[in-house]
Amino acid sequence: MSTIDYSDKIPNNVNLSQDRTLQRALEQWQPNYLEWWGDMGPEGSQNFDVYLRTAVSVDPQGWAQFGHVKMPDYRWGIFLNPAEKERKIHFGDHKGEDAWQDVPGEHRANLRRIIVTQGDTEPASVEQQRHLGLTCPSLYDLRNLFQVNVEEGRHLWAMVYLLHKYFGRDGREEGEALLERRSGNEDNPRILQAFNEQTPDWLSFFMFTYFTDRDGKFQLCALAESSFDPLARTTKFMLTEEAHHMFVGESGVSRVIQRTCQMMNELKTDDPARLREAGVIDLPTLQRYLNFHFSVTIDLFGADESSNAATFYSTGLKGRFEEGKRADDHQLRGQVYRVLQAQDGRLIEREVPMLNALNEVLRDDYIADSRAGVERWNKVIEKAGIPFRLKLPHKAFHRSIGALSNVKVSPEGRVLNNEQWLAQVDEWLPSLADRSFVAGLMGRVVEPGRFANWIAPPVMGINRQPMDFQYVRFG
Ligand SMILES: [Fe+2]
Ligand SMILES: [Fe+2]
Repeated sequence: MSTIDYSDKIPNNVNLSQDRTLQRALEQWQPNYLEWWGDMGPEGSQNFDVYLRTAVSVDPQGWAQFGHVKMPDYRWGIFLNPAEKERKIHFGDHKGEDAWQDVPGEHRANLRRIIVTQGDTEPASVEQQRHLGLTCPSLYDLRNLFQVNVEEGRHLWAMVYLLHKYFGRDGREEGEALLERRSGNEDNPRILQAFNEQTPDWLSFFMFTYFTDRDGKFQLCALAESSFDPLARTTKFMLTEEAHHMFVGESGVSRVIQRTCQMMNELKTDDPARLREAGVIDLPTLQRYLNFHFSVTIDLFGADESSNAATFYSTGLKGRFEEGKRADDHQLRGQVYRVLQAQDGRLIEREVPMLNALNEVLRDDYIADSRAGVERWNKVIEKAGIPFRLKLPHKAFHRSIGALSNVKVSPEGRVLNNEQWLAQVDEWLPSLADRSFVAGLMGRVVEPGRFANWIAPPVMGINRQPMDFQYVRFG
């Protein structure tokens, strides 16, 4: 058997070289991970030298080291944020007790399920994005795609570390299963539906990283409150990386908008057909993509009423977004929350026990955060002097999970019958024609400093590199 210096190969702050059991488990898992990366990671990229950020420690200097790396050689590290001294559980029935350094037997099954569900999204998004490199709009964007991909790979490592370290044989089996499920596969799909959708073009990619990686942020924030301290510390560090993914999405969409507005002013038109002829993406099409990604993503928060959500909170496994900043009793018994449902052709609010509505609470926090970025996009349109505004669709629009899943609702929140829905759905969600138009725009641009016609250059390079920097060198 070959010996690998794991502390060198796998940068970590978990004392990996001192933990023989864990090391052995990872030694078995790592080749399978690399095989998965070879099969399902970015297509045709194995020989590329990519200007990547690698985390080698959690301090401000250590977590963002830049240099050209071949992706299969990326050092997927294992990092936990530093332990808080004598950390206490700060919500739920165990509030005030010491945080758990190990998994309590009675919460083992639920914790494993939470970790596996989070872990499953990480390789899923890599699979969803694996063809995008073939149609990148610039080297800068190609590099950003790959950065997101390797970090999602590292997030899988982060979850597999917890499974291996704290869940014994079950954990190892789950670690294998995480490499076996496949996004969109009929027989063995990824756990959550948004991670089985395709990410066929770069507009979808930017919308995905804006909306769906933001779901990641909110789930991670809720887990960062967990009474299970290793999970809290792991997810806190993942959040530092997640910020970049959302930046890629927000700035990506913003650059598409900027380019479109520029063309609208140049041609003095808002006619989608003329703009499409000029090779840019018209704003109504952007709105339809936004509607799709937003609605599919808010389903990820789960049913609006959920006894699991109540259990996860009361037992201290999963907190609320910014739990520590909230001024209530952090136990929530006897409190209520309003959820929506359709009745007699309209949407009505209904009060339910807050503990059961915690999925909805997190979804509403997510929606508020999403809205802020949409307003920043609107600033770009406003600055160009164009009267169009992008909007988040109504929460009840195009839902597949929870009480709103069996009712058709317009983006404005009007309840519709099936005929009305079908008559207008192509104005609200990307049609086949929209998707094939956007697909037709995609073409590989890899000359340093050049950008595809449908997107504006970024304001600044990565790590302050010049715009024509060779972010990716092809082997
Ligand atoms: Fe992630
Ligand atoms: Fe992410």
